[in-house]
Amino acid sequence: MTAAAPKGQNVSTAVMQRRVEPHDSLDDFPTPPWATRALCEWLKISAECAEEHPLMLAAREPCANRGHMVRVLCEYFATVDAADVHDYGAGFPVRDYLFGPDPELVDWTVMNPPFRLAEQFIQRGLRTSRHGIAVIVRSAFLEGVGRYRDLFSVMPPSDVLQFTERVPMHRGKLAGPGGTTATAYCWIIWRSRYQGSVTRFRWIAPCRGNLERDGDYPAEPGEFAPVDAGAVLI
Ligand SMILES: C[S@@+](CC[C@H](N)C(=O)[O-])C[C@H]1O[C@@H](n2cnc3c(N)ncnc32)[C@H](O)[C@@H]1O
Repeated sequence: MTAAAPKGQNVSTAVMQRRVEPHDSLDDFPTPPWATRALCEWLKISAECAEEHPLMLAAREPCANRGHMVRVLCEYFATVDAADVHDYGAGFPVRDYLFGPDPELVDWTVMNPPFRLAEQFIQRGLRTSRHGIAVIVRSAFLEGVGRYRDLFSVMPPSDVLQFTERVPMHRGKLAGPGGTTATAYCWIIWRSRYQGSVTRFRWIAPCRGNLERDGDYPAEPGEFAPVDAGAVLI
C-alpha cells in the first residue's frame, strides 16, 4: 500500500531538484501568504507582555517583491516599512537593503531574502531590529561550515520553526492553492530577549488549510488587494 503525498509536497522526479538560481538572480520567489501567517500567529502567542504583541510594533520587509508577505504583516503589525531593490509594480520604494548606511531601527524585520545574500540581510537585520528578526529560508540554510562559523556559532538563533508541510515557492509568480515543491522551508528567528540562549527547535504543525484566506490567490495578478497604504511607512 502506498500513502498519498501530503498537500504541497511534490515527489515527482521532475521537481525533485534543487532550487538553483543564477548568481546575479534577484531570487524572485513570492512567499505564500499562509507561511507568513504561520510566523505571525507564533509571534502573537510568543509575546510575553502587551508591549511585545505585534499589533503594538513596527515591522520592516526589506525585499517585499509583489507584497505577498507585506499584506499579511499589515494584518498583524501596527506599521510595515516595505521596499525592494526591483520594482515589481506593487508600489514599494526601490531600495537596495544592502547598500549604504544602516536604516533606522525597527521593532521586527521579517523577510524572505535572496538565498545567496541571506547572511548579509540577516546581519543588517540584526543590527537594526529592536525585538528580533524572522527569516524564511530553505531548511538547507541551516547546514554549512561557513554559515556555522560566521553566523550560527557567533549569533545563535533563538528559534527554528520547521514547516511540516511544504511551502510552495515558484519563480516569478505566487504558487497557487495547488502549488507544489520539493524544497523544505523553515523560519529562523533571532529574538533579542533570548540572545545567547540555546536555540529552540519546533515544528509548525500542519496549518495551511487554516491559514489560507479568500483573496490570497486571485485569478489575475491585478486583482490582488492593494497593500493597506495607511499601514505602510514609505
Ligand atoms: C524571495 S523574494 C521575496 C518574496 C517576498 N517576501 C514576498 O512577499 O513574496 C526575494 C526578493 O529580494 C529582492 N532583492 C534582491 N536583492 C535585494 C537587495 N539587495 N535589496 C532589496 N531587495 C532585494 C528581490 O528583488 C526579490 O523580490
